[in-house]
Amino acid sequence: MAYPYQIQSKEQYDAHYRESVENPEGFWAEVAGHFQWHKPWEKVLDWSFEEPRIEWFRGGRLNITENCLDRHLEQQGDRPAIIWEPNDPGSEGLTLSYRQLLDKVMQLCHVLRRNGVQKGDRVCIYMGMVPELAIATLACARIGAIHSIVFGGFSARSITDRLEDAQAAFVITADGAHRGNKAIPLKSVIDEALEQCAFVKKVIVLRHTGTAISMKEGRDCYWDEEVKQVAAAGKPFFPAESMDAEDPLFILYTSGSTGKPKGVVHTCGGYMVYASYSFVNVFQYQPGDVYFCTADIGWITGHSYIVYGPLLAGATTLIFEGIPTWPDAGRFWDIVDKHRVNILYTAPTAIRSLMSFGTEPIEGHDLSSLKVLGSVGEPINEEAWQWFHEHIGKGRCPLVDTWWQTENGGILISNLAGVTPAIPTFATLPLPGIQPVLVDEKGAPAQPVKQEDGSSITSGNLCIRFPWPGMFRTTYGDHERFRQNYFAAYPGLYFSGDGCYRDDKGNYRITGRVDDVLNVSGHRIGTAEVENAINSDPSVIESAIVGYPHDIKGQGVYAFVVCDPEHTPGEEARKAILQTVTHLIGAIAKPDKIQFVSGLPKTRSGKIMRRILRKIAEGALDSLGDTSTLLDPGVVEEIKAGRV
Ligand code: WT7
Repeated sequence: MAYPYQIQSKEQYDAHYRESVENPEGFWAEVAGHFQWHKPWEKVLDWSFEEPRIEWFRGGRLNITENCLDRHLEQQGDRPAIIWEPNDPGSEGLTLSYRQLLDKVMQLCHVLRRNGVQKGDRVCIYMGMVPELAIATLACARIGAIHSIVFGGFSARSITDRLEDAQAAFVITADGAHRGNKAIPLKSVIDEALEQCAFVKKVIVLRHTGTAISMKEGRDCYWDEEVKQVAAAGKPFFPAESMDAEDPLFILYTSGSTGKPKGVVHTCGGYMVYASYSFVNVFQYQPGDVYFCTADIGWITGHSYIVYGPLLAGATTLIFEGIPTWPDAGRFWDIVDKHRVNILYTAPTAIRSLMSFGTEPIEGHDLSSLKVLGSVGEPINEEAWQWFHEHIGKGRCPLVDTWWQTENGGILISNLAGVTPAIPTFATLPLPGIQPVLVDEKGAPAQPVKQEDGSSITSGNLCIRFPWPGMFRTTYGDHERFRQNYFAAYPGLYFSGDGCYRDDKGNYRITGRVDDVLNVSGHRIGTAEVENAINSDPSVIESAIVGYPHDIKGQGVYAFVVCDPEHTPGEEARKAILQTVTHLIGAIAKPDKIQFVSGLPKTRSGKIMRRILRKIAEGALDSLGDTSTLLDPGVVEEIKAGRV
């Protein structure tokens, strides 16, 4: 068997699940034993959600890249590790075998070392979806540097904030990126970001689009020229740094309910074990399969399920540079056909967007290689589930609905393809090692409620009561925030921020965030962050952001904005607000709707009543509930009348 820890049947799942709860340390020690360690761990798990403190495989030493790369050379050094499909179907792609990938990673390690990167240094990576993004990620991991990948759609200001928070002295970027018919000027965005970051010592720039860029003498260097120097010196091997299991592997920033994005920290040992375990089990990867995850490596899905999970399993992972709808809405199906993709992992928003083009773009593409489909990022609605299953999977491919979060490192609740049953719109069962609990507002266990058909449903806030190896360990530089955000609401539990219900067979259905966080096209957007951006516009006094149902994005961003009386709200003010948000955060956070109002509904203590604004944005004008506690109930009528 290729993966000794791959679950083969529902009975085996039940048995493994039971074992993982009864004897978690024994269970995870057995899985971890299938990896290469320089030194075995002294203690499998030490934890307290009260402090909070989580340590897995303490004292163990390893390097994740040896497990991703070196380990596979003997058996499958010439098998494809990465298939790269460029943005433009007319340009040439690239396939890298495990051997070639390791060589390139080691070359870049030499480049990083030449430029002063040491173990523990933070390296910010800001690139498009090119193979060099995976190479840069792995090179950091091999040298023991902590990567902080920033999605290529974020603005200069967002990069500055992240660089500052992590005190990253090194940046790896490219001249530009291709996305559909757009060229993204990555290097010039970095230049703008670095105007505020004098602590950045080196910028390594990949030439990719050929866009004209400026290079700062002494700070900036070209990737290809550096590699040439290294090659001329003739030092092909680069030994992997020996890392403690609990040394940080990466930081990834994500939005929360407060203004500032937080740096989620994952560590080497536990993350490795969980990324690989979940990949192999959820997707039921078989040696030789071609696996295609359509996420961007700038998000956690790309970290865990384009780079680390697949490579740890010795899989072939496809990296696609472009977007689903360019040059036409058949682009994914073209890729599936061309590369004989077996496993396709994508997001509900992409499915809904492709659905809107009908089935015509699918015609003429042979999708018979597909065996497994996957969905992630937000609750998948029934219609999208059925369309994906029927028109793409032709009714014969198991579809996994995978629930998890940046903080989790890997999938926590999902069916296992073809092994445990799928239920449309349900993430279904927890993976072994994952112990979910549903609690009410006060933290008491939620109680089942009998339904008319005799079944019962339990609904509540989704928490996890026991650590798993892939969970995050802190928020970078601010452990108190880690505690406050995730472990304070319900003592002794990790709180996900999601609402959820469970049927009487133990299947989970996630309903969405219960905090002030939106999920727009599968991207997490903090309402406070967008409000802060809008409020910084000189014509704005205050604003409130809420989500509303959006056909394609899942949730759209609705902004209620109070303008300074000296400024007339209108087209110009609208444009200025959109520009400010794009400038401060990035285009992904732009409001879909802006409504200018004379005031916001507030309680007598000055708190904005978001519940009411949410109802108005949704169009549920008759179910606003009690508005009598408002400071000025009249404002609600005005807002209702002016709804856009
Ligand atoms: C939030 C996490 C790691 C996944 C990519 C997004 C929502 C994610 C599902 C799903 C229902 C889902 C949750 C979660 N979510 N997957 N299968 N069903 N909701 O990562 O940015 O950390 O966002 O995405 O609301 O809390 P993220």
